[in-house]
Amino acid sequence: MNTHNRKPSRRFAVIGAGGKTGRRVTQRLQSQGHSVRTLSRSTSPAFDWAQAHNWPAALQGIDALYVTYQPDLAVARAQEDIGQLIRCAKDSGVEHIVLLSGRGEAGAQQAEQVLITSGLSWNLVRASWFCQNFSESFMAQGILDGELCLPADTIREPFVDTDDIADVAVAALTRPALANRVFEVTGPELLTFAECVAEISRQTGRPIAYRTVAAEQWLQVLQQQGVPDDIRDLLKELFTEVLDGRNASLSTGVTEALQRPPTPFATYVRKTIDAGLWSPAVTD
Ligand SMILES: NC(=O)c1ccc[n+]([C@@H]2O[C@H](COP(=O)([O-])OP(=O)(O)OC[C@H]3O[C@@H](n4cnc5c(N)ncnc54)[C@H](OP(=O)(O)O)[C@@H]3O)[C@@H](O)[C@H]2O)c1
Repeated sequence: MNTHNRKPSRRFAVIGAGGKTGRRVTQRLQSQGHSVRTLSRSTSPAFDWAQAHNWPAALQGIDALYVTYQPDLAVARAQEDIGQLIRCAKDSGVEHIVLLSGRGEAGAQQAEQVLITSGLSWNLVRASWFCQNFSESFMAQGILDGELCLPADTIREPFVDTDDIADVAVAALTRPALANRVFEVTGPELLTFAECVAEISRQTGRPIAYRTVAAEQWLQVLQQQGVPDDIRDLLKELFTEVLDGRNASLSTGVTEALQRPPTPFATYVRKTIDAGLWSPAVTD
């Protein structure tokens, strides 16, 4: 196992640096004075999960790496891609990798094993559903439109704030004592989708309805909206398999890494309102 020695000035890279967690990890590292190479398809050097021949240039000179996989670590090709990334990272001299993973996803856990057994220093941040799916992802439009329709009814999920995920990831990247551990991160409470929407409605002061729809009907609508086949398959798996109650429990990863409790959903809602993310577009 790599000893995970820390150099005085470590160079960090973030894959998916413009994303929900990558952006926050980058901001935190930079505000601590670290050098960060931001990586995605639109950066220079570029990093594209579909263009492995470009990975060596993207990882050259990097000591520690935060990895978000696209579209989701649960897809079939993730295990192979993560394996290839690790081989490239080792060849490039990367010492430590922090991988974002999903809780209760069998495919994701196969990819996790590739990192755990890689011989590199590692951390896994295994997250429940993000609160920010309501404001920065596929559920945001429903909130703005005043009605969110999903194939989920009474299932409860411990939605986690991506600010907490970023805090845990940065701790894992910068604190050698935390190396080679899994941090399973959740929020502090179990909520249904309807309860989340009711809290957003209460704090924004806008009527926002939640409606449960049949999965097949929902997938047909997504198809009509032009959502690609692979993303529809992924969403189907997430809603019909992962949301079957297996994740309806709290875990302690945020407190283990940060010695503080995770952020309540109501606090996430207040921050999101303050940031203006749910403000309706101004029209003439
Ligand atoms: N959402 C959840 O509730 C949840 C829960 C648990 C785990 N996860 C995991 O979170 C991971 C995603 O992390 P995230 O939500 O922080 O990211 P995200 O917001 O989905 O990330 C978008 C970023 O990824 C880049 N990107 C998109 N396609 C890419 C590609 N083919 N190659 C390289 N970069 C690409 C984008 O930039 P460009 O457009 O410039 O490429 C952008 O910077 C997934 O692996 C998923 O399994 C999600």
